[in-house]
Amino acid sequence: MERKILVIHGPNLNLLGTREPERYGTATLDEINRALLEKGTLSSVSVDLFQSNHEGDIVDRIQAARGACDGLIINPAAYTHTSIAIRDAVLMLDIPVVEVHLSNIYKREGFRHHSMLADVVAGQISGFGKTGYLLAFDALLELMRA
Ligand code: DQA
Repeated sequence: MERKILVIHGPNLNLLGTREPERYGTATLDEINRALLEKGTLSSVSVDLFQSNHEGDIVDRIQAARGACDGLIINPAAYTHTSIAIRDAVLMLDIPVVEVHLSNIYKREGFRHHSMLADVVAGQISGFGKTGYLLAFDALLELMRA
């Protein structure tokens, strides 16, 4: 059976491309998603894509991944720094999870230095823009093989 990776993008990431491009880059969410789908095709992995501006919807999507997905890439955006609910949902998964940030959150305001997810995910990739998602995909494939 084909393996499945779920990619979750949090709030405001729907506006990538026009949202603070000097910080987040000029790639749109659509471009990032297409690059992930392409990698999926090349590695025979199916890729599910989800974006929401709403915390509860993200929790629902993570819950739905239980028993249905083999790996998760998540950029929880601002919820990274605040959401115990998303952390708790991730804790219920028994699949590898990679956290991604387009910007280097450790070079930014102090409140962005803490991630509610960092200690419950396999790893975090921060500061490489769109490339971060592609690195996360490769890392996740390795983890799914392990
Ligand atoms: C972000 C970093 C967060 O601090 C911010 O709230 C975002 C995007 C990133 O990808 O760099 O919305 O997760």
